[in-house]
Amino acid sequence: NLFQLAIDGPAASGKSSTARIAAQRLKFEYIDSGAMYRAVTLAALRQNLSPLSLDDASKISQLAATSHIFIHTIFNPPPIAHTSSSKPSLPQTLVYLNGDDVTHDIRSPEITKNISGIASNPDVRRVLVEKQRAFANGIYDYEGDKLNTIRKSSKGVVMDGRDVGTVVLPNADLKIFVTAPARIRAIRRFKELQQSSTNKSLIDFNKVLEDLEKRDKNDYERKISPLKKADDAILLDTRDMSVMEQADKIIELVLE
Ligand code: C5P
Repeated sequence: NLFQLAIDGPAASGKSSTARIAAQRLKFEYIDSGAMYRAVTLAALRQNLSPLSLDDASKISQLAATSHIFIHTIFNPPPIAHTSSSKPSLPQTLVYLNGDDVTHDIRSPEITKNISGIASNPDVRRVLVEKQRAFANGIYDYEGDKLNTIRKSSKGVVMDGRDVGTVVLPNADLKIFVTAPARIRAIRRFKELQQSSTNKSLIDFNKVLEDLEKRDKNDYERKISPLKKADDAILLDTRDMSVMEQADKIIELVLE
């Protein structure tokens, strides 16, 4: 049986970096449940369906059921050639929608703006939760030579999201709920955006904070599967922790 580790928490809490590093070191597979909601949002927008309009809700849930979402994490990516950094690269999670690499497209502000309509669609959630449970139980799915998502050598799975401990894997072996004050999370997100942007002056901290607070509100107050700490989850406040320290702490808890 695979060890199931559920990590939930609000946006920019450091869950996904921490989850990927922990997965790499524990030889667990990593499943990014948020990427699946993002991929369905992109699929809807590509079909000119509006995620925020109730009129399109049933078409979108059909689309979720018929789309092939493929997630593949490369645990030891080669270092980027033009950097002299000797730091090992973080594991990279690639996301495909019907065979098309959408890894970057699903992170656009357009997707983030529309995702609350997808995340509050009960039929979409039913479809995605079923896929997430299948992955967590070691269901194999190949695309080309890539495995979606559990390698035979994996000892377990780490899944991160909003409702993993409460809804997707209520019997997970370990549940962690990651938090940090909104301001601290906004600073992390701001730095990330600055690093990846060619025009740093276009990034406005107050806008980043405002967007984050809006997403928190949507995630915490959604009627269906809201963001919530499971009663048996361990609370991890990461305000004073680096990503490496968070991963160390989680690994310690798994091995306990
Ligand atoms: O984790 P990430 O920021 O990529 O998630 C994007 C959005 O997808 C979240 O803000 C949330 O609305 C939704 N989501 C969800 N349930 C999950 C994971 C993500 O509703 N398990």
